[in-house]
Amino acid sequence: MRQLLIVGIGAGNPEHMTVQAINALNRADVLFIPTKGEAKSQLADIRRDICDRYVTRADGRIIEFAVPVRQTAGRSYDASVDGWHAAIAQSYERLLLDELGPEQTGAFLVWGDPMLYDSTIRIVERVRALGTVDFDYAVIPGITSVQALTASHRIPLNLVGKPVQITTGRRLAESFPGLAETAVVMLDGEQAFMAIDDPEAFIYWGAYLGTPQEIILSGRVLEVREEILKTRSQARARHGWIMDVYLLRKGADFDA
Ligand SMILES: C[S@@+](CC[C@H](N)C(=O)[O-])C[C@H]1O[C@@H](n2cnc3c(N)ncnc32)[C@H](O)[C@@H]1O
Repeated sequence: MRQLLIVGIGAGNPEHMTVQAINALNRADVLFIPTKGEAKSQLADIRRDICDRYVTRADGRIIEFAVPVRQTAGRSYDASVDGWHAAIAQSYERLLLDELGPEQTGAFLVWGDPMLYDSTIRIVERVRALGTVDFDYAVIPGITSVQALTASHRIPLNLVGKPVQITTGRRLAESFPGLAETAVVMLDGEQAFMAIDDPEAFIYWGAYLGTPQEIILSGRVLEVREEILKTRSQARARHGWIMDVYLLRKGADFDA
């Protein structure tokens, strides 16, 4: 039976690769690398660099594939994502049928960890549900951008004994401040931190974490948000793309 390995490769630094992830890449006959168009070609370069550094078997094949683009026009967010996943599932199905022999192993190199704001696992389940290709799969964890962020800022993720919410820019207003004393915000295309007006809120922001272009900034939201906005927009113009994540905090380890 075909075997698939969904391998977390870390969030930008090739040294995030775990021994388990390196061994998984060396078990694979075929390594699947997504390309996301010119602007984010650096992400595909990091995946290629990881293969160059760590794959020691000579007969592993690298197959690059274009990820379908999400169609948003005239669709709700859920419908748009659902249609997108269906399109990616079709492309995975073709890759498995065309590129992987019936007894071979393939690996998908997944940014960060596959469980965090990544749909590879659910899309692979969708391919299984199609019933056209017989395969089994395993997931290998990776270092997430959340870990890269907290390590660079030298902060713990949670306050003592308190919960953390992980959310998106689109939904930040629902949870922070208010529900959560710590919120980690990913996939923020709208710079939702600009709407935080609480004078006691702190932000720990990071872009291109783990890469040579890494930038981090932190402070009271009201004091640093303009600087983050400016830095972000300049960096995005310079590199042609950006990936950033941040942690918002209000409160203390001990309430007394
Ligand atoms: C589709 S999610 C994938 C998350 C990934 N699975 C992980 O474990 O971190 C992409 C988001 O992760 C964050 N991200 C991933 N890598 C990053 C990096 N190197 N620097 C800053 N943010 C990053 C950004 O918020 C970005 O919008």
